[in-house]
Parts: sequence; C-alpha cells; structure tokens
Amino acid sequence: MAHVLVSGGTGFIGSRVCTALHEQGDTVHVLSRNPTRAQTTLKSAGAVYGWNPETEKLPLETTSGVKAVVHLAGETIAGRWNTEKKRRIRDSRILSTRNLVESLAEASKKPAVLVCASAIGYYGNSGDDHFTEVSPAGTDFLSKVCEEWETEAQKAEAFGIRVVMVRIGLVLGLGGGLLAQVLPPFKMGVGGILGSGRQWMSWIHIDDVVGIVIHALENEEIRGPLNATAPVPVRNVEFTKTLGTVLRRPTLLPVPMFGLRLMMGEFADFVVLSQNVLPEKTEVSGYEFRYRTLEPALRDLL
Ligand SMILES: NC(=O)c1ccc[n+]([C@@H]2O[C@H](COP(=O)([O-])OP(=O)(O)OC[C@H]3O[C@@H](n4cnc5c(N)ncnc54)[C@H](OP(=O)(O)O)[C@@H]3O)[C@@H](O)[C@H]2O)c1
Repeated sequence: MAHVLVSGGTGFIGSRVCTALHEQGDTVHVLSRNPTRAQTTLKSAGAVYGWNPETEKLPLETTSGVKAVVHLAGETIAGRWNTEKKRRIRDSRILSTRNLVESLAEASKKPAVLVCASAIGYYGNSGDDHFTEVSPAGTDFLSKVCEEWETEAQKAEAFGIRVVMVRIGLVLGLGGGLLAQVLPPFKMGVGGILGSGRQWMSWIHIDDVVGIVIHALENEEIRGPLNATAPVPVRNVEFTKTLGTVLRRPTLLPVPMFGLRLMMGEFADFVVLSQNVLPEKTEVSGYEFRYRTLEPALRDLL
C-alpha cells in the first residue's frame, strides 16, 4: 500500500489510473487546476490539491509522505493547431514537469519513483521501419516537445528518484483518445481510411496503459523510457476495416489529405503519421498485455 500523487488525475487516462490504484489499496492524492470540480468527479481520490502546473511549484503539503508520483497533466493535442494551441501543448508539459521536479527536489523526504507520461510522438515518422525504446527522437514539433518533456522528468534522477517515461501510443478507450475522434463518423456510416491508409498505427487498450503505469511504479528495476503500445500494431487500412467489422458499419472511400488538412490544420499531418512502435523493453521487463491484437481490444470496448 503506497501513497501516490497524481497530476492529470481527472483526465481520460488519469481517472482510470486513480481508480486502479485506489482499488488495489493505495492512497491517491490528485493535483488539479480545478480542485472543486475534481473533488466532485473523482471518487477514488483521498485529497485533491489546487495546482497551476505552468506557473507554480507544488503546494508544500502535497509531497508529504508521498512514495510515488504519476505526472499525466497536459493540454490535449486534439484540435486545430495554431500558435497558441502549440504553445499550450508545449508549456503544459515542459513547464509543468519542470515545476513538479523542482518541487520534488525541495521536498524533505523524496518519493521513490516518478512515472511521467510521454508519447510515441517522440519518435516521429517510422515509415515502414519500426521503433523501440532505444530509437532516437524525431525532428518534428511533437518529437521536440516529447524530448524536452522527458529531459525535464529525467532531472529527478539526480536527487535519487527513479524516473520512468511512459511513451503512450494511440489509446483506445471510451470517453476520450482516438475513439472519441473516429467513432462519430463511423456511427454515421461515413468512416473511411485516412490519407493513403498505409501508415502504421501503434494503438493500445486503455487497460494496458493503466497496467503499464502501475507496472512501472512497482518494478524497481525499470527506469527510462517504456513504450505503452500493443505488441501488434496495424496499418490504418486494417484499423479502419476492423473497426468497420466490429461496428458493422461500412468503410467508405479514403478521406484525402487535403480534406484532413482543411478540417484539422497541421494536426492532420500527425493523424496520418506512420508510427510502428514496439513495446520491446516493456515486454522484456515482464509486462503481460491484456490486449495484444486489435480486434479483441475493440470488441471489449464496443
Ligand atoms: N490519450 C492518448 O491517446 C495519449 C497518447 C499519448 C500520450 N498521452 C499523454 O498522456 C497524458 C494523459 O493523457 P489524457 O488523454 O488522459 O489527457 P487529458 O484527459 O486530455 O488531460 C489530462 C489532464 O491534464 C490537465 N490539463 C488539461 N489541459 C491542461 C493544460 N493546458 N495545462 C495543464 N494541465 C492541463 C487536466 O486536468 P485538470 O483540469 O484537473 O487540471 C486533464 O484532466 C497526457 O500528457 C498526454 O499527452 C495521451
């Protein structure tokens, strides 16, 4: 039984992480920009503290007795990317992680472990090749954000905190992530492959993201990057066909790139990025996936 402090605990992933920790008997404290709202929505949180992650250090009382920290806060990357949106995507991760780690450095008794979210966006475009945890960072906007984000988290190692950066793939779950974007057109019968359809999609079931976060918290030999992607990624065309089969809806003509750019701006380039990311270190470290292949994962959710 441990005392865990979670940022982003009100979010799509964080709320499930809090529930899972609570169910296994841990004490869960949550950091939120809106503690009143968080307190009413999160039944699994023992205490909720107000924290504006971009502009301030953690309130002093939040780190007392904490054994582990999970940092998941960040502006969603979904939506149209303009200059202000890109600033929020970057600052909500990099400044928040800096403020968090500096606060942990000042704590009289430090937690043993920090598990910080990152994303497979770290790697950039894999084309037809694949990436593992040892692959280098890409060069696009999201790659740079992820690299800086991880650099800030890693600084906690200097004062004896074990740091794990969980590079999360396209999360499949209800109420957020990828399905929140792709289900509405499918349900209207107008779902189709995106761009060429050849791009790799490294998806993961939400239960496995939660499982990997807890695995990282509990296994003292794990540090550094850990990929949270299912062992069997698929190309977009296969993803689309499988989703159509599970929903018993047709998959129509491709949505061309110019149409996507019109709808999403620069975010469209991310949506069709080919990312074949394998969870090599995650599996070697002993994590056993509940959902290795796509169809059972989708059938479970839908
Ligand atoms: N979902 C995915 O498919 C996916 C894939 C790869 C990586 N990730 C990463 O995993 C983490 C959690 O993802 P998620 O899908 O659970 O995120 P989410 O639901 O969009 O947001 C998580 C929490 O972050 C806080 N937040 C939102 N905007 C913020 C801002 N501008 N500044 C500071 N805090 C803000 C919110 O908490 P409060 O309102 O309570 O403060 C929110 O509940 C994120 O860092 C994300 O980049 C997610």
